[in-house]
Amino acid sequence: SAASDVYKRQVWGRGSKNATDILMQGLEKLEYRGYDSAGIFVNGQETAAKLVKSVGRIADLRGKLGIDVSGTAGIGHTRWATHGKPTEDNAHPHTSTSGRFILVHNGVIENFVELKNEFLMNDTFKGQTDTEIAVHLIAKFAEEEGLSTLEAFKKALSLIQGSYAFALMDSEDAEVIYVAKNKSPLLIGLGEGYNMVCSDAMAMIRETSEFMEIHDKELVVLTKDNVTVMDYEGNVLSRESYTAELDLSDIGKGTYPFYMLKEIDEQPAVMRKLIATYANEDGTMKVDQDIIKGIQEADRIYIIAAGTSYHAGFGAKMMLESLTNTPVELGLASEWGYDMPLLSQKPFFIFLSQSGETADSRQVLVKVNELGLPSLTVTNVPGSTLSREATYTMLIGAGPEIAVASTKAYTGQIATLAFLAKAVGEAEGEVKAKEFDLVKELSLVAQSIEATLSEKDEIAAIVADLLPTTRNAFYIGRKQDYYVAMEASLKLKEISYIQCEGFAAGELKHGTISLIEKGTPVLALISNNVEVAAHTRGNVMETVARGASAITIVEEGVAREDDTIVVNQVHPYLSAISMVIPTQLIAYYASMQRGLDVDKPRNLAKAVTVE
Ligand code: M6R
Repeated sequence: SAASDVYKRQVWGRGSKNATDILMQGLEKLEYRGYDSAGIFVNGQETAAKLVKSVGRIADLRGKLGIDVSGTAGIGHTRWATHGKPTEDNAHPHTSTSGRFILVHNGVIENFVELKNEFLMNDTFKGQTDTEIAVHLIAKFAEEEGLSTLEAFKKALSLIQGSYAFALMDSEDAEVIYVAKNKSPLLIGLGEGYNMVCSDAMAMIRETSEFMEIHDKELVVLTKDNVTVMDYEGNVLSRESYTAELDLSDIGKGTYPFYMLKEIDEQPAVMRKLIATYANEDGTMKVDQDIIKGIQEADRIYIIAAGTSYHAGFGAKMMLESLTNTPVELGLASEWGYDMPLLSQKPFFIFLSQSGETADSRQVLVKVNELGLPSLTVTNVPGSTLSREATYTMLIGAGPEIAVASTKAYTGQIATLAFLAKAVGEAEGEVKAKEFDLVKELSLVAQSIEATLSEKDEIAAIVADLLPTTRNAFYIGRKQDYYVAMEASLKLKEISYIQCEGFAAGELKHGTISLIEKGTPVLALISNNVEVAAHTRGNVMETVARGASAITIVEEGVAREDDTIVVNQVHPYLSAISMVIPTQLIAYYASMQRGLDVDKPRNLAKAVTVE
């Protein structure tokens, strides 16, 4: 697109308590998502209305707040810069020239240059963001054409193209917050004598567990006592609220130095919780019959996802195909949004997403829904956009994943798909599915994870030895191990900034081996498949012959004395879960030993809500 600006953030207001406290607590709750500047605006009853912005952390913003910054309504925001540097001028909230209108925005206004040229040639702007164009546009329609704030907002919305979650305030009537949404997430939170709106329920659950959805191209007028939802023509819409099952107690870091380590450690518990969720006492599956039927009727399963969730799809592919007898095709959400291939006659879509908010995945789901095709979202966040908009949902139930680097969601997604695969296979009368004792096998996976977790010190020492200053590294493997190598390398690069490729071991000699030089770390993943193991070992030797420093992460059945890390044996369908654990720890220690902020790597956000 011609422009972009911000990404995830949160916007909200309320009535009876101090809006500043509520805004700041909410912004802090969402810090884990990644941002580079922040700001709030609160109306002032006794003091003047306040706008405070800061580059850096929420703590920096807090440091700038005077005690006079209080009010009964306000909007706040964290910005993740994509267009326009992270400066105070580019931070939200943005104001109109007169200062009357104040706006926060999540998303990308694609035609902001055109709007500026057509309507705002004489205006002066403080920064480079598209959001500033939007607030100037609203001001122009209100101040020059005499439209009411609602009408000016509606007129601006009729012209704006792109994705947005807007929250607008008019300082001449600063008890009202005007909200509109298209593509970007936004939820209303309801309370007694107050209402709020936010991009993530997590920031509101301290205040309420009662929520109301807003759909794309809807507008909301919010006061402390009223929530009016309408379409862009101004027709008032009725909307039921719902209660969300979110638990704030899960969010704490406890005694852990970083969330990522806590979340890595939680994985055995996640496996056991999934057994309780998706298996009955007698070992039969507890999976929604409609989902099973939907897949039985399909001639192909399409898994759509991004990043780590995409890799989880690969981790489950072989198991799904084998147990359901249905071909599985993986699609990168960011590609499929524009380049949907020729589909089979009876497709069934599975969306994998920890957050349930990934815009790339959602744009594919919108198309899938337009085509009237069935879909299932496997997510960690109940009530998330992808969950609400897909035909079916299966929850991972891993508890909030706060670290940007996804760990327990990956293993939880594969395990959830295992229950689905077995349930469908059994319904099909597939012998392999009946014989696959998933409850037992997943319990063994939990034990295998625990065994690896007990080797943390050894893994930290290996990392200190192998990766202290290296700029690049390779993970290699074949079959399932290749898929794990892709995930392992993503994890290492995203938090340690070591350039790392996950490579099909046999493919190295077709070009990439030229990058191997003295000391290049090559980490080989070798699970229990005798034929494949021998070939991968051969590929390791090829790199060692060219100077590589190799480490081997090997499953018990094919392990040798000189292997670096040995992983307890699990069922081959589930090896992507147990084999990934050492690689998560390697990434964690590589980042920690370099003194980096493990949970909040540079340039990244937790939920990627722009395309
Ligand atoms: O919330 P999602 O699972 O849809 O997110 C997809 C990716 O953005 C995410 O997995 C990302 O790659 C992680 N930072 C990887 O650790």
